[in-house]
Amino acid sequence: MKNINAVILAAGEGTRMNSKYPKILHNLGSKPMLGHVMDNVQAAGIKNIFIITGYKSEMVEKYVGDNAKCVRQKKLLGTADAVWQIRDEAALKEKDSRLLIIYGDTPLIRTSTIKDIIKKHYSESVAGTLLSANTKDPTGYGRIVRTNEGKVVKIVEEQEASVYERAIEEINVGVYVFKVNKLFDAIEKIKPDNKKKEYYLTDVIQVLHKENRGVNTIETQNHNEILGVNSRVSLAQAYEIFRMRILDEIIASGVSVLDPKTTYIDEKVIIGKDTVIYPCTIIERDVVIGENCFIGPFAHIRSKSKVADGVAIGNFVELNRSEAGENSRIKHQSYIGDTKIGKAVNVGAGTIVANYDGKNKNKTIIKDGAFIGSGTILVAPVKMGKNAVTGAGAVVTKNKNIADNTVVVGIPAKVLKKNKEVKSKTK
Ligand code: UD1
Ligand code: CA
Repeated sequence: MKNINAVILAAGEGTRMNSKYPKILHNLGSKPMLGHVMDNVQAAGIKNIFIITGYKSEMVEKYVGDNAKCVRQKKLLGTADAVWQIRDEAALKEKDSRLLIIYGDTPLIRTSTIKDIIKKHYSESVAGTLLSANTKDPTGYGRIVRTNEGKVVKIVEEQEASVYERAIEEINVGVYVFKVNKLFDAIEKIKPDNKKKEYYLTDVIQVLHKENRGVNTIETQNHNEILGVNSRVSLAQAYEIFRMRILDEIIASGVSVLDPKTTYIDEKVIIGKDTVIYPCTIIERDVVIGENCFIGPFAHIRSKSKVADGVAIGNFVELNRSEAGENSRIKHQSYIGDTKIGKAVNVGAGTIVANYDGKNKNKTIIKDGAFIGSGTILVAPVKMGKNAVTGAGAVVTKNKNIADNTVVVGIPAKVLKKNKEVKSKTK
């Protein structure tokens, strides 16, 4: 895209969150709201992103790192004052430069919508374009006031709105694209003459209208994206929308989710076709699950785990940074941590991998065709060979690796049989 930069406003404290952390650092799923906004803006093709920080700036700066340029707003004098902080940035001085403005507390706005507003802005010769929505419940949002002919006159904030204005159902979502020079000329003219004594960015619209500069809107029909998160209640509502969005996609791609109400799947999860997810299952980000698997009920697949095709993971099983090879079964009450399980392994009920010794997380390897008896404890680091067997209740201690085709039993586990007859499916 041409000379377009973006700014994300993230300086506010978010008092209604009742938190010691800045509002925009609260997670929606596995990453902060601000991360969602940053990713969505970046995915829309904008490379240069500014982030206005204020309340606990250091924390926000630490999170942002090199992904964007943070600029501090010293006093939180309102959204117009926040944008004002970047007026001297060299990137904005380029000819015909445009600025996308978006708030850090609207994490659900889609990349496609950001692309749409930019496209619309460039297709018309106006000073500004803003995202609007028509909603039966406009409570808390700025209302868009128009002339009888439909021209945008101003945005009035709820606290300042008259009874008639409050009845307006067309709201300001809080995403704008402006011509940079027109924007800053207009901001300079804004006064904090409102109940909050703040410089409202929304007042830019009235200034531009009065000067006949032209402001247009683009409407989003998708009410799932407009939610501004101002409290923990609305954060929970936003999470619900986000969660259902992910589930809808996964279901459409060929996965059966029996009970979406109790299924929590994070973003960046890949699940193969014809896999069935039973109720009350949690799957964290960066997990890959193959085709034709059965997962749950009550399974917890933690981040960075990998499950191959045809695997069954059942009730009260937690898989943590672990892999399960093709056709393996871990069906009842197990904890599997830092473990690589081969193909066609049977993990008996109640098997626990003791991967943490108080200092380090240690690795366990279980080779193809192994059969782990119920209630086995594997104290990592440890290896189980091909087609090896543990008896029920065995405790396999650290580094007491079990050779291929060997049966161990007892506490601590001792060899019962070597070179056992191989009955397993794998060779
Ligand atoms: C704002 C809009 C409103 C719109 C709504 C959409 C204004 C004046 N009002 O209201 O029209 O319908 O969003 O969600 O813009 N911030 C700063 N510095 C400040 C003040 C705020 O960076 O000095 C940041 C906040 O961290 C927040 C964002 O700006 O991320 C919006 O501020 P907020 O107070 O939440 O505005 P709303 O009242 O929700
Ligand atoms: Ca808000």
